[in-house]
Formats: sequence, structure tokens, C-alpha cells
Amino acid sequence: MIRRIGVLTSGGDAPGMNAAIRTVVRTAIHFGIEPYAIYRGYHGMIRGEIEPMSSRSVSGIIQRGGTVLKSARSQSFMTPEGRAKAVEQLKEHAIDAVVVIGGDGSFRGALELDKLGIKIIGIPGTIDNDIACTDYCIGFDTAVNTALDAVNKIRDTASSHERVYVIEVMGRHSGYIALYSGLAGGADAILIPEVPYRLDEVCTKLEEANAKGKTHSIIMVAEGAAGDPEAGRLPSDSPSVQVANYVQEKTGYETRMTILGHIQRGGAPTVNDRLLASRLAYHAMELLHQGKTGKMVGEADHKIKSWNLDYALAQEKQLDLEYYHLANILASI
Ligand code: F6P
Repeated sequence: MIRRIGVLTSGGDAPGMNAAIRTVVRTAIHFGIEPYAIYRGYHGMIRGEIEPMSSRSVSGIIQRGGTVLKSARSQSFMTPEGRAKAVEQLKEHAIDAVVVIGGDGSFRGALELDKLGIKIIGIPGTIDNDIACTDYCIGFDTAVNTALDAVNKIRDTASSHERVYVIEVMGRHSGYIALYSGLAGGADAILIPEVPYRLDEVCTKLEEANAKGKTHSIIMVAEGAAGDPEAGRLPSDSPSVQVANYVQEKTGYETRMTILGHIQRGGAPTVNDRLLASRLAYHAMELLHQGKTGKMVGEADHKIKSWNLDYALAQEKQLDLEYYHLANILASI
């Protein structure tokens, strides 16, 4: 029987987290469960930053990016002593279960709590969209639309000046934002961690496109795109610096680069992210209400589902390479 839950956000914030928090709190109240905020993720859990929430404490947040619960990456939670303190705090505040909204690292933390006998449930929220089982994570849709907006704007100036533009987007281990915004934005090349690439081939593609009358080009690069060992790269260089330098030198085309950075993590969540967040959070609370724990909720084939968290974390998220092939075909004609 669950009487009181704690909810936290952890790791990189993602637009739509607030919509998820709102649904967790209101659904808890709907089921007769007391919702408590755990501020600053596992860091705040260890420090006992735990306070009651009410339906009103989540008023007016559905449209806001970021997270009203704040987020942090906790070094002490990585240690057994830190985790023991966290469990002590949960017991002191009579928290029966914890709802964790976050990405891979946050879920690994949740699994550690599960091993220590705490009831947990995970709601995937990360712009990287790199959690397996679920098709989409909260925040990805907004982030990819922000990236696409930037691609559209950069294309205007790329076209005016007849230049090559290299645009770097987030994704340390994931090419989702680069691939989706690249395909939707008509990029000429998309460089992602999941697919090895060679910069001399990228240059040949640009030259072929130029010979067919294309006067400007966009190259999308994920921050985690491994880099072409042949092309050389200083350890301090981001992949987009390497790509821009190489392309300009090899082809002679005037090249510019833009790193979008944290702009991709902010902003009002899209309708898709608000709906996803609300539906996932509702299902997470339904599961807890039924006494189910150790799970992650997600959306697969347009249906809200759940998986055992240890199973989900052991899977590798598969990027749909059909998107990649389609982008290549469209760029080469
Ligand atoms: O996990 C989301 C993410 O935005 C990654 O794409 C990026 O590499 C990382 O977080 C940046 O983290 P920080 O905000 O700690 O610099």
C-alpha cells in the first residue's frame, strides 16, 4: 500500500518535465496518495530536500521548459554511503515510492534504490532520446523542433552567401536530434555517432551537389559524432570544428559553423511533449497505485506501456537507419 510518493528530476533537464511533474502530483492526489517533491535529484534526496506538494504547487507549469524541481548530477549518490543516506532520508520522510523523471544515468540511480528495497518507477525524459524500449523520451520533440528552427534560419543565410554551414547539435552518444532535424531540414550530410563516416566522402558529396547546381549546403553533426581519424583533430576540437576546417580546406568552399548547445534544452514544450509527459506520468502513477514497482513507462507503437527497468537499461536503443538512408538519397539527387 503506497501512501506517500516522492518525485524528482535528474540529469539534463528536458522540456515537458514540468508537465510530467504536474501529472504525477495531480494523479497521486486523485488516487489518495500524498505527493512530495524531492528537489535537485539524488543530490537533494541525500540532503533531505523533501517537501510536500499540492495540486496548486503545480499550477501554471505545464507550458514551462526546465524543471521546477531543479536538477543536479550527484557524485555522492555514486557511493554506497551516499545511497545509504538517501534511503535514510526517504524513510525519515515516510516516502513509500519514488518517481524518477530523467535519462539513462537517472534510471541507473533508480535501479540502485530498487536494490535497496525502495519502490521506484522511471519516466524517460531526455532530449537525447537514447532510452531503449520507448520510441520517444520527453523533451526530444521540443529539442528537435528547436534545432530545426535553427537549421531553417541558417539555411536563409547559407543560401544568400552561397556557403557551406556545419551545424552541431546535442547528443553525446546519440544521433537522434541530428538525424531528425537533418532529414526534416534537408541537410546534405548527417554525421552521427551510430554511423562511421569519412570526411573526404562528405567533400565529394558536396562537390557533386555543387556540380548539379546546388549553391549552398548544410551539414548536421551530432556532438558525439566520433570524427574521422584520417582528418586529424585536436583533442579540444568539437567534431563540427574538425568538419568545418576539413571541408573548407579540401573543397575551397566558404564554410561556417554553429554549435546550438543548451538552447536545445530550453523552451516551451511542444504539444507532443506535453501529451507524452502527461500520459506517461499518469501510467506511472497507475502502476504504483497497483503496487507495481521497478519499472519504466514508455510509448511504443503509439501505446503507453511499461517494462522492467533492469531489462530496459540492458537494451540498446536502435536508431532507425531508414531515416539515414532516406536523407542520403534525397541529398544526392
Ligand atoms: O543528456 C542530455 C545532454 O543535453 C546531452 O545531449 C549533452 O551532451 C549533455 O546533456 C550536456 O550536459 P551538461 O548540461 O551537463 O553540460
